[in-house]
Amino acid sequence: MPAEAVDVYDELPDAVLVVDAHGTVTSANPAAVRLLGEVAGLPFTELRVCDAEGREWWGCEAAARAMAGVRAVPERRLVLPGERAVLLTARYVRSGGRFDHAVLALRDTRARERMERQHADLISTVAHELRSPLTSVKGFTATMLARWDRFGDEQKKQMLEWINNDADRVTRLLAELLDVSRIDSGRVELHTQVVDLAALGHKIVAGRVASGEPVDRFAIVEDGVPPELWLDPDKIEQVLGNLVENALRHGAGAVRLTIVAHPDGAEVLVDDEGEGVDPAVAPRIFSKFYRGKASRGGTGLGLYIVRGMVEAHGGTVAVESGPGGGARFRFRLPAGAPPHPA
Ligand SMILES: Nc1ncnc2c1ncn2[C@@H]1O[C@H](COP(=O)(O)OP(=O)(O)OP(=O)(O)O)[C@@H](O)[C@H]1O
Ligand SMILES: [Mg+2]
Repeated sequence: MPAEAVDVYDELPDAVLVVDAHGTVTSANPAAVRLLGEVAGLPFTELRVCDAEGREWWGCEAAARAMAGVRAVPERRLVLPGERAVLLTARYVRSGGRFDHAVLALRDTRARERMERQHADLISTVAHELRSPLTSVKGFTATMLARWDRFGDEQKKQMLEWINNDADRVTRLLAELLDVSRIDSGRVELHTQVVDLAALGHKIVAGRVASGEPVDRFAIVEDGVPPELWLDPDKIEQVLGNLVENALRHGAGAVRLTIVAHPDGAEVLVDDEGEGVDPAVAPRIFSKFYRGKASRGGTGLGLYIVRGMVEAHGGTVAVESGPGGGARFRFRLPAGAPPHPA
């Protein structure tokens, strides 16, 4: 083998074994040694690589190996002693039609199985989250259809309002899931322009006041003048909006936004006067579907999206205890640069 080929073979993350016509392992790369131990020189059957029914794989494959047309074994899930699962692929190398040796690649499946489990968990959580608003939409429509004449206008209006709210919840959940999927696959697209964080804060507060919050619940403080900030205004509005919404929903008292200028960007503090976030759960609250003990109607995706959007801008976000004991969310954004430098 040329020198580079040997290096590649040594560096391969997958275990690679060569097994000769007598069934003896003639070569094993370092990944194979890590997975199986020192196996060179041993009969492959001693490794006890078995299928799901416990049959030793090399022995079972003897007939296929003897057939001149069979050159490749498609990926098979096999089990090593100790119930450790591996994915095996093989090529049979022939000389003059006779089986000469096999090259086997074994891949540890733990990372893949963990990922599959996470996907399955995600699907079941999503299905569960969608089911409760849809059940209520279905319940109210069915009730109204079945007993239309027996309800007064006020009762029908009330039911339509509930249906409307639940439909909004489903729409919001789907929008959040799309954001999560963009974050998870690294496909958050930023359309940057110069953003005034204080103006964005005032816009969010105005929206909250319009929907009934008292204006004196909010304060916006600017500490210094930051450099020109090139950010995606919609995404930063989403970040600030989520944090303000959390402060109102999970916190209490006044909500204070402080925008601190830095030479290379800006930092935003969102403080409330509620109970704050227990430092023991602080590292978890940015994870997907994390909700505190008292569920207040959210899905637990808000802060995951906040972190995803801030990180897409090259920033960081954290939670700490505010000076008054409430929660303090702090995010830092670099100034960024125009998309097409002149
Ligand atoms: N300002 C806050 N004060 C106290 N606890 C908070 C605060 N903000 C967030 N939390 C806790 O963190 C959890 C996760 O917040 P997150 O915004 O991710 O989800 P959510 O608000 O429950 O639902 P969603 O935002 O998806 O509607 C909340 O359920 C709450 O327990
Ligand atoms: Mg939230």
